[in-house]
Amino acid sequence: MRLLVCGGAGFIGSHFTRVRMREHGDEVTVLDKLTYAGRKENLADLAQESGFRFVHGGIEDPKAVALAVDGSGEQTPDAIVNFAAETHVDRSIAEPDAFVRTHALGTYVLLEAARERGLRYVQVSTDEVYGSIEVGTFTESSPLRPSSPYSATKTGADLLVQSYFHTYGLQASICRGSNNYGPYQYPEKLIPLMVLNALHGDALPVYGDGRQVRNWIHATDFARAIGCVLERGKPGEVYNAGGPDELPNIEVVKRILELSGADESLIEYVEDRPGHDRRYSLSSAKVRALGWEPRVRFAEGLEQTVSWYRENTWWWEPIRSGDYRAYYERQYGRALS
Ligand code: NAD
Ligand code: TYD
Repeated sequence: MRLLVCGGAGFIGSHFTRVRMREHGDEVTVLDKLTYAGRKENLADLAQESGFRFVHGGIEDPKAVALAVDGSGEQTPDAIVNFAAETHVDRSIAEPDAFVRTHALGTYVLLEAARERGLRYVQVSTDEVYGSIEVGTFTESSPLRPSSPYSATKTGADLLVQSYFHTYGLQASICRGSNNYGPYQYPEKLIPLMVLNALHGDALPVYGDGRQVRNWIHATDFARAIGCVLERGKPGEVYNAGGPDELPNIEVVKRILELSGADESLIEYVEDRPGHDRRYSLSSAKVRALGWEPRVRFAEGLEQTVSWYRENTWWWEPIRSGDYRAYYERQYGRALS
């Protein structure tokens, strides 16, 4: 296939681009604004391959979108897959404006581009649109009850995508993932933040009591689920892709300390996140029925992830010595070593 992958320079979008080019021989144009979280380094191994093209721009900018869709002089893509988003709940609490712009306006501009050209469209979404669940598991028909500016604006984008199916017959599907982890994840998120802090001997800031539960999926598994929805999903439908393991945060943190060879005395309980969702859990029966299965169990995936961060200092050193330090101080009220 020929794909336009929006937000392909981010964590999951870069895994998806790699999986599609390497495993399916797809041609991919990445459209990415290169925010603090988007990095060309994430695509370094693909940049020279024929069939790969990069366009720098925001999805809310119709000119950049038109350039990405039509501008190569080649044929238009078969589909748009949209990963482009602001993705960190804590930043959405501190500064929600970019979340509204990218998720509402950006998704609208992409939907219009797909509608004008009759393209297939897949929206990448999150379990956070369903809110928190104490027991049991969310299915695709669970009510939408987002609780943060991040999840509320992602929910708005999902509803807009569904309206384009119902109103205009756009061939659009939605794939909602649980918490992703793996290489190339920006270290504002739980796992890479804790790994890098453990490797540096910095304190590991656990919010509240650390008993919040997340349903972990390796980014390559989520990438393959999205590919499966793209190829075999029904337009107008939503598909949940949850990982095979659920763990309380404190257990994840303790495993990271063990794998990093660091001491549990580094754990520091800090003030809880406002409006913190207690537990996420997704049923994946519907996407499994399309032929998808997660391949990576958490124990094995976490071990590989810790090794990847240990070995790939070239990837995180520029982050940890740049603006991230100021972000960390603002968010956690203390400096990194
Ligand atoms: P990320 O923050 O690593 O990457 C986001 C990418 O989008 C970056 O490359 C960034 O530069 C780009 N971007 C941001 N705003 C843009 C704009 N206006 N125009 C063009 N590009 C823009 O995020 P991620 O973790 O890879 O998440 C990708 C998608 O998957 C998001 O839609 C997110 O909601 C969804 N998701 C993430 C998780 C998770 O655990 N990380 C779980 C489920 C779903
Ligand atoms: P995060 O990676 O931000 O993902 P999400 O909020 O989308 O689930 O956080 C995962 C969990 O880890 C969440 O319960 C909040 C918690 N957490 C901490 O305890 N400390 C931290 O420094 C961070 C970033 C997250």
